[in-house]
Amino acid sequence: MSEYIADDTEDMDITRVFEPDDEENGRDRDRERKSRRLNFCFEDLIGRQEISWEQVYGLKEILGAGGQGTVFLAERLGAFDVSFHLALKFYRPNDYSDVEMYRSEMARLAAVAMEVSRIQQDHILDIYNVVEHEGILVLATEWVDGMNLRELVAPPVLQSLKGKVNPDRWDYINDVVMTNAGFQTRLMPSMVLGILRECLAGLSALHRRKVIHADMKPSNVMVKQTGNCKIIDLGSSFFTHTPPRRPTWTWRYAPVEVLEGAPHTPLSDMASLGYVMLELLSGKIPFVGVTDKNELIQLKKDMWERVAEILPADVARNSKLVEMISKMIAPDPADRFDSLEVIELSDNGAAALQRQLVKVDMDTVVANEMRVLLQELSLAKNGPEAA
Ligand SMILES: Nc1ncnc2c1ncn2[C@@H]1O[C@H](COP(=O)(O)OP(=O)(O)O)[C@@H](O)[C@H]1O
Ligand SMILES: [Mg+2]
Repeated sequence: MSEYIADDTEDMDITRVFEPDDEENGRDRDRERKSRRLNFCFEDLIGRQEISWEQVYGLKEILGAGGQGTVFLAERLGAFDVSFHLALKFYRPNDYSDVEMYRSEMARLAAVAMEVSRIQQDHILDIYNVVEHEGILVLATEWVDGMNLRELVAPPVLQSLKGKVNPDRWDYINDVVMTNAGFQTRLMPSMVLGILRECLAGLSALHRRKVIHADMKPSNVMVKQTGNCKIIDLGSSFFTHTPPRRPTWTWRYAPVEVLEGAPHTPLSDMASLGYVMLELLSGKIPFVGVTDKNELIQLKKDMWERVAEILPADVARNSKLVEMISKMIAPDPADRFDSLEVIELSDNGAAALQRQLVKVDMDTVVANEMRVLLQELSLAKNGPEAA
C-alpha cells in the first residue's frame, strides 16, 4: 500500500462559481479590435490605385563631386529602426545659362534615367528614383560599395598593400592582378579583359535601348566589393533621337569624330572604352599634358597604329589583344568593330582572348581576384593588423 501524501492542492477539487474577469475580457476585445483595424488597413492599402508616404534621407558623406554635381552616400531611414544605403546625386544648375535651360536638360536626363532603370543590366548602375526637389534634379541610385577605376590605379592603392599582405601574396598580386607601372598602376590583361567584357555588356544594353553613354572614362566605371564592374554617371547620356542641346563629355576620352564636332554614337562609346583599356593595360594616361585640341586630334589619329609601342612589352606580345584595342580606337569609325557585341563575340574577340589568358573558369576568376583584392585594400585601409 502506498504511503499517504498530504495534498496541499486539495482546494482545486472544490466546485466554485467563477465571476467573469472583466479586465482580461476587456484586453481581449481591445486586441481583437486592433487586429481587425490592422487587417482593414492592409485590405485598404492593397486596394488603392496609388500611395504616398514621407521619406527621410540622412546625407552621410560625399562620394564624389565633379563635372555635373555632387553625389552623396545616403541613408534612407526605414521602419523598425532599419536603414538602407543608397546614393543621391544632386545636379548642379550653375553651369546652365538660365533656369529653363537647366530644366529642359534635366527633363531629358530624367527620361534617360528612367529608361536605364528598366534595363536592369548587371553592369549598369541601378536607378531607383528621379526626384525634383526645390527645382533641383536628384537621382536616387544604388550605392556602389567599391572604387572607381581612376582610384583603383592610383599608385597609393597598390602601395597600401605592400607589407600588409605576405610576400607570396604580394608577388601573386603583381603577377596576376596589377603592378606598378611608374606613373600609375597597370592591370594585367586578364583583369582588363574581365573589366572590358562587363563594360561591353553594360554599354551594349544601353545601345540596344538607343542610349549613348557619351562619357566613358575610368572615373565612370566602378569595381564593386564583389569584384564586378558597374558603369555609372549618366550625366552625359542621351537618347539618339534627343541629343543634348549642350553636349557634355571629357576631352581626353572623346574620340576623334567627337572632337571634330560630330555627335556621340555607339562607336564613339567604343573608342572611349578603348582608350580606357589602353590606359589600364599600359599604366599610362593617354594624352597626358596635351591641352591643344588639334594636337589631341592628331595624336588620336596616330594612336591606333602605336598601340604595341604604348603597351608594356609583355602585353604587346599578344598581337590579338593589340589588334583589338587598335580597332576599338581607330580614328575613322568605319574602321572600328561594327558594334560592341562583335568585340565580345568575334573569333578573336574579348571572350576568346580571355579564355586563352585564364585557363580555368574565366567568368568567376577575374571577379574573384578583384573581390579578394578589394577586401585586402579595405582591410589595409582600416588597420595595420587587419590584413
Ligand atoms: N552610386 C554611386 N556609388 C558609389 N560611388 C559613386 C556613385 N556615384 C558616383 N560615385 C562616385 O562619385 C564620383 C562622381 O560621380 P559621377 O556620377 O561620376 O559624377 P560627376 O562625374 O558628374 O561628378 C564617381 O567617380 C564615383 O567615384
Ligand atoms: Mg563622372
